[in-house]
Amino acid sequence: MGKAIIGVCAVILVAMVVAVAVGVTRSRSGRSEGELEASKKAVKTICQPTHYKEECEKSLAGSNTTDPKELIKAGLEAAIREIEKVVNNSDTIQDAAKDQRTRYALEDCKELMGYSINDLKKSFNQLNSSGVSRLDVYVENLRIWMGGSITFQQTCLYGFENASTVAGEKMKKLLNTSQMLTSNGLNMVSIIPELIRDLNFPGLTRAGGGTRKLLAKDGFPSWVSFRQRMLLQQNPTPNVVVAKDGSGKYTSINQALKDVPINNASPFVIYIKAGVYNERVYVNNNMFNVVFIGDGPTKTVITGNVNSVDGPTTYNTATVSIHADHNFMAKNIGFQNSAGAIKHQAVALLVQCDQAVFYNCQMDGYQDTLYSHSHRQFYRDCTILGTIDFIFGNGAAVFQNCKMIVRKPLDNQQCIVTAQGRKEQMDASGFVLQNCIISGAPDYLPVKGRFKTYLGRPWEQFSRTIIMQSQLDDIIMPEGWMPWNINMYIDTLWYAEFGNRGPGAGQTNRVKWKGIQKITAAQAQQFTPGVFLIGGDWIPKSGVPYTAGMTNENNGRKTTKNKCARLGSGRLHETDRCKENIWKIYCLLDTYGSFPSDIAKGRIESEQARFFVLNLSSPPYLSTWKQGSPWNMVLDSAIQARPTPFPVGGSNNIESRRWS
Ligand SMILES: *[C@@H]1O[C@H](CO)[C@@H](O)[C@H](O)[C@H]1NC(C)=O
Ligand SMILES: *[C@@H]1O[C@H](CO)[C@@H](O)[C@H](O)[C@H]1NC(C)=O
Ligand SMILES: *[C@@H]1O[C@H](CO)[C@@H](O)[C@H](O)[C@H]1NC(C)=O
Ligand SMILES: *[C@@H]1O[C@H](CO)[C@@H](O)[C@H](O)[C@H]1NC(C)=O
Ligand SMILES: *[C@@H]1O[C@H](CO)[C@@H](O)[C@H](O)[C@H]1NC(C)=O
Ligand SMILES: *[C@@H]1O[C@H](CO)[C@@H](O)[C@H](O)[C@H]1NC(C)=O
Repeated sequence: MGKAIIGVCAVILVAMVVAVAVGVTRSRSGRSEGELEASKKAVKTICQPTHYKEECEKSLAGSNTTDPKELIKAGLEAAIREIEKVVNNSDTIQDAAKDQRTRYALEDCKELMGYSINDLKKSFNQLNSSGVSRLDVYVENLRIWMGGSITFQQTCLYGFENASTVAGEKMKKLLNTSQMLTSNGLNMVSIIPELIRDLNFPGLTRAGGGTRKLLAKDGFPSWVSFRQRMLLQQNPTPNVVVAKDGSGKYTSINQALKDVPINNASPFVIYIKAGVYNERVYVNNNMFNVVFIGDGPTKTVITGNVNSVDGPTTYNTATVSIHADHNFMAKNIGFQNSAGAIKHQAVALLVQCDQAVFYNCQMDGYQDTLYSHSHRQFYRDCTILGTIDFIFGNGAAVFQNCKMIVRKPLDNQQCIVTAQGRKEQMDASGFVLQNCIISGAPDYLPVKGRFKTYLGRPWEQFSRTIIMQSQLDDIIMPEGWMPWNINMYIDTLWYAEFGNRGPGAGQTNRVKWKGIQKITAAQAQQFTPGVFLIGGDWIPKSGVPYTAGMTNENNGRKTTKNKCARLGSGRLHETDRCKENIWKIYCLLDTYGSFPSDIAKGRIESEQARFFVLNLSSPPYLSTWKQGSPWNMVLDSAIQARPTPFPVGGSNNIESRRWS
């Protein structure tokens, strides 16, 4: 269904629901037959935007009401009952499951059905409560949770990919009705804004741009006091310390997680000291507000090597699984799956937690490194390494100031940075890469000519990925994107590039699919975390650096200038020149070395990316644009003597100078 069609449907629907409601008001004299008739009409109209109208009307047939909210609630209850039935009946498949792969898949399904019901219940409870005041938050919550519920059921089916086909088919049949009812639920909640405008839901206001007004300049909501802000920004005292060397309360992270109180309401901080932790970590569904703090993304490393070649489903290969229902945060930690390219799907980190935040982390793997499975996620200053689909799943995730580093794959393989998996057009999910760097690892760069790299491919029909204000290196194929299977989903996917720079950012030879979007600055704004994730409500609370809007207000206009920004290679080239005397280099600066020698040596774990500007017109010749706010020029360091002779593509290597 196209966008325009949905718009029209919504208008008609509103008109119809209003008509029904008005009709009922007029016949309040109490003829129940008339009410039943009205209820039937209301059911028909509320089912209008769904994909499975027959199932929708059937599931609501017993409800004797014209209230759209009550009808949606009845729809969700029907979906919950269906999934419970699936759980009850999945034992019939169990008996048929002889092979290990099928057993693994079935185990996943039981767990996933629980999560799926959980999301439906959350949606129901919100609809059943009257304590919500902002429409944007209200609807976004519902769409995110309903999307989660759908994803969990779909992930159950993915598990049968290489298992017994008989069992897989049986499970597909069992899930058929619940999938349809959950899809219907998502499409019903998605039109609530249209209903509200005309029906005057009590207690709700339309927020529109309200998010922005609530934010003070520093990105904190205006109601957060100065003192609170300061507290939020500091390193909190840990509740538990984990240390490999025995200097903490525990030596294992899973042990420490047992200390998290059930329904924990305030941050529970687990400080994980430097060391390699070889364990599979599960932050369970009922562990809320857990915070992992490490000693650095390459110093505190959680590692494992479970992989799909050895049997488990992709879902169950993750070294670290964040199954928490909501609010998880990790800072200064590395997540690794060391199985290697030869073992195919091998997840380092899986995240299905609503409002999860990752800051200064490293996700280290090959195929399927980061499984952004579902719900809202914010990644800031993280490095993600991999080969095939190395950021994938159906999360609503923004990656801000991150590095996506392509590794050398197996001989017959190509690399794909993202594989977003949105199955339903109304799902609020999608991947946004903002102010990121997509580049190659030291093992890949020397052989980049032999292995193609693409920005993404569609795992599901409505796959959505936006890459904006980012640096794309020359490893990206001119076509940019690749299909999943011959031309599959290329009309329905939604891919956009906006304000990118670097040799891989050229648009001339990009694939010309119907789903490839040309977006304006205003549209790009819709995918900044402040809008796309309504991040102002939850990200600043975590105290991590966060830019709500565009990372660089001038980016749209100054793209030509940004083109000359590049990852420092140790040498300046003509392409680095902005104007006669102005040179701009985008590079990495770490705390212990001189740039960019560490990049040349492949030490890509450097802490910070910065812009450097060389202005040869007059001293100081070098200035640094601080990370995250490149247009707020801050003179971190200055060079008083003009660097001469100034090299262009020559042997005069800038790495020989110490800039800081
Ligand atoms: C429908 O609900 C109304 C009150 O809300 C009641 O008067 C009527 O009897 C109900 N009809 C049926 C068929 O249950
Ligand atoms: C599922 O099984 C449980 C326990 O046997 C039972 O209480 C429940 O009613 C069943 N649910 C459905 C929807 O069949
Ligand atoms: C819905 O809300 C009402 C009123 O607050 C409450 O009595 C009822 O138990 C809730 N229903 C469910 C299923 O939670
Ligand atoms: C299933 O098997 C095919 C063929 O061996 C392989 O390419 C694919 O990656 C496997 N999928 C999973 C999820 O293991
Ligand atoms: C359920 O089965 C029907 C009939 O085979 C099919 O049309 C429908 O697409 C299926 N629904 C889902 C969600 O798979
Ligand atoms: C470079 O330096 C000259 C002289 O100080 C100054 O006028 C100009 O604005 C500078 N350009 C930039 C881009 O900083």
